[in-house]
Amino acid sequence: PYLNSLLSQDCETPQLNPVMEPLSWMLGTWLSDPPGDGTFPTMKPFQYLEEVHISHVGQPMLNFSFNAFHPDTRKPMHRECGFIRLKPDTNKVAFISAQNTGLVEVEEGEVNGQELSIASHSIARMSFAKKPHVEQITRKFRLNSDGKLEQTVSMATTTQPMTQHLHITYKKV
Ligand code: HEM
Repeated sequence: PYLNSLLSQDCETPQLNPVMEPLSWMLGTWLSDPPGDGTFPTMKPFQYLEEVHISHVGQPMLNFSFNAFHPDTRKPMHRECGFIRLKPDTNKVAFISAQNTGLVEVEEGEVNGQELSIASHSIARMSFAKKPHVEQITRKFRLNSDGKLEQTVSMATTTQPMTQHLHITYKKV
């Protein structure tokens, strides 16, 4: 809090590091609209709300948090936060995330225009993580022509091949 308040005492947002310009379309606070759809062959389809913050402090990386909530009870559900990095002067992206389920992952891929496609490069989990374990993850983020951000997540587990788990669109708030 001390260092962050030093940052904001400047009374100006630091300039976006030019390295991150290709991902500037992701910046902002986003709220699910409509609620997200959860699916997987092993589970009953479900809906969820999600609040997303994607920001920067002038470093050559973005900071993100994704916080999901139950649509009726508003109880917190899945949460993850981390960083998005770009290899300077390329479209190669690394997405580094810690999840409240005890999963930590690095995904890598490419940004092309206002679309980011990434796939898991390494996944680690706590020793007592719930089963079945996830073995692969892919995500796609896209800024649509109506200004909404869209995220699709697929995964393979020890019991299921690669299948869609999440689809959600967010409006900027
Ligand atoms: C279940 C992974 C994000 C809600 C699961 C399962 C896995 C998983 C491995 C168990 C599948 C099975 O039993 O066959 C992930 C990963 C995520 C993610 C890797 C992010 C990359 C989310 C989000 C929500 C969510 C954002 C929103 C609320 C659920 C629910 C279940 C589930 C409700 C079923 C009940 C349960 O097992 O807790 N997820 N998930 N997940 N996930 Fe996700």
